[in-house]
Formats: sequence, C-alpha cells, structure tokens
Amino acid sequence: MLQEQITQYSAEINAFDTSNAEELEQFRIRFLGTKGIIKDIFDQFKAVSPEEKRVLGKVLNEFKQVAEAKYSSINEVLSISAQHTEDLGLDLTLPGEGFEVGARHPLALVRREIIDIFNKLGFSVAEGPEIEDDWHNFSALNFPEEHPARDMQDTFFLKKGGENGDIALRTHTSSVQVRMMEGGKPPFRALMPGRVYRNEAISARAHCFFHQVEGLYVDENVSFADLKQTLFYFVQELYGEGTKVRFRPSYFPFTEPSAEMDISCTICKGEGCQMCKYSGWVEILGCGMVDPNVLENCGIDSKKYSGFAFGMGIERIANLKFEIKDLRLFSENDVRFLKQYKTVLI
Ligand code: PHE
Repeated sequence: MLQEQITQYSAEINAFDTSNAEELEQFRIRFLGTKGIIKDIFDQFKAVSPEEKRVLGKVLNEFKQVAEAKYSSINEVLSISAQHTEDLGLDLTLPGEGFEVGARHPLALVRREIIDIFNKLGFSVAEGPEIEDDWHNFSALNFPEEHPARDMQDTFFLKKGGENGDIALRTHTSSVQVRMMEGGKPPFRALMPGRVYRNEAISARAHCFFHQVEGLYVDENVSFADLKQTLFYFVQELYGEGTKVRFRPSYFPFTEPSAEMDISCTICKGEGCQMCKYSGWVEILGCGMVDPNVLENCGIDSKKYSGFAFGMGIERIANLKFEIKDLRLFSENDVRFLKQYKTVLI
C-alpha cells in the first residue's frame, strides 16, 4: 500500500516544474508542509510491521530527499531571477506598455484598391521617372509647341534645353505611357501610378503635387466601347454596383476622341449635396482613344493598332471615398489624421 503511494507520488514530484513562485509554494505545502503528504506517509509508516519497516525505511527517506531537493533547486532558480528583476529595478506586476500599430496612408489604400481592380482585368503596373523631358511629358503626347500647359505657370521647369527638350517635373503620368510604348511592342495593358507636380498655390483644393493613376490599353481593334466597359466595371467595383457613369466630350492633346467621366455622387447617391455641388454627378477622370499621332511618335503602327488611355487623381478618389475635404491633409503627416485609416499591414 505504502510502496504504491510512494511510487505514484515520486512520479509526480519528478515531473513537477514551474517558474511561478506561487505554484512552488503550493508544491511545498502539498508535499513538505506540516499537514503534507510526506508527514502523512511517515505517520502511516509507524503502523507497518517491523519486516516491512526495514525495506520501506530507506525508500521513505529517499522519497523525502527527492521532494526536498526538487523544492530547493526550483526555489534557488526563482530567487535568483527575483533578485535579478529587483536589481534591474523592474516591477513585473506593472501593466505592459501598449504599442502603436502602423496604418496605411489613405492614398496608398486607394492606389492599392485601384490596382487590385485593374489587375483582375489583366492590367500590370509600370512606373516612370518624376523628372521628365519635354518629349515624354509633352511633345510625344501631341502637345503643340504653344500649348498653355507648357507655360511656366503650370510646369516646374528644372533645366532649359537638352537632347529631348527642357527638363521638368512631370505634370501628369501620361509620360509613362510614352515610355512604355517606346520601350516595347503591343499589346500594352498597364496601370501607371505616380506623383505629379504642378505649379499651383497650395490651398484646400489645390496642391503643387498630387498623385495620378494612368491606364493604357493598346492592341488590335481596341474601341471606345472597350474603354467605356472597362471604366464602367472599375466604377462598379470601386463604389459598388448601381453607381452610374456618364461621359462628357472633352479635349486632351493626346487622345481623340476625348472624354471626361462623371459618376453619380457617391455621397448623396445623386440627390444633390455639397460634394457634387448639387448636380448629383462628380467628375473622376479624363480618358480617350490614344491619338494616332501619339502611337506613331512612339513607333507604333497606328493603322494596325488602336488603344485607349485614362488618367485619374488618387486624391480625388480618396476624397470621395473618405470625404477628406482638405487636400493638404494628405501631405501634412498629422498622425491624428493618419491613424484613422487603420488597416492590417501587408
Ligand atoms: N493626363 C491627363 C491629365 O493629367 C489625364 C488623361 C490621361 C486624360 C489619359 C486622357 C487620357 O489631366
């Protein structure tokens, strides 16, 4: 009987381990306490026969030693580490400090969303330089020499002259279209996100830099119907099914025909509000069929190939999505503003 108990408890003692002082104290009380198991077994021992005593006596003493050794070895480790924390001046009972989780910038969120939608249609992503020459920013895009967009007013010029004309900060991402078409063969199906610069006074509604996403699709038999369907799909994905679109004739030197696309106001659903200036519609992008001159400028046979292009301001889309009224918020890096757009970092 006694032998069985000892074997069972020995196994328990051998298996015992803890880094918690409270648990160790429980262990001490259970086995080594004045009303503990060892005391109880010693009491039972008094009642066994003399022959049994001879055999069990040794076993019992060993059992007691094992329990004591276990207790003191763990106790030593725990008191060393307790001393350590005390030496370091640490109070481990204090609550931990929370840590801030990063947030994506609202412009980055919107850019990602736009790219994800066009990815589904097979559009890849391309980039180009922010410091551009006249050829890529203007001439190849069919801007006549005297076009007002080349004026000092709109463009930040960096250097006069040069092989490809004046050097400037790009005023739109359409320059990346040119670089893409010059550097490859159709078909092209790409999205070109990036920062663009215009010489404007900074206010709630204008900034000297902002962000665009350009889209280009060039292949055989690309038509205006393809353009409309692609952009319609994009808007349904971005703002939800039922969002209406309308195309208004417009002018860009590099597209013919050209259009601006409006969507039914996402804030008031077309009822009329401040955002849409009570018209029910908001403009979100410019688009059109790539002008054959532009294709030829980039070495592409305009008899064989046709294409469409579009360009939108990311700030504008973010503005409609998050109702951010002041453009300056995007670049001021006020953490209180940025924190609101908590998303898991990927
Ligand atoms: N580049 C034009 C702009 O900055 C937008 C646009 C791009 C229009 C492509 C048509 C086609 O306003």
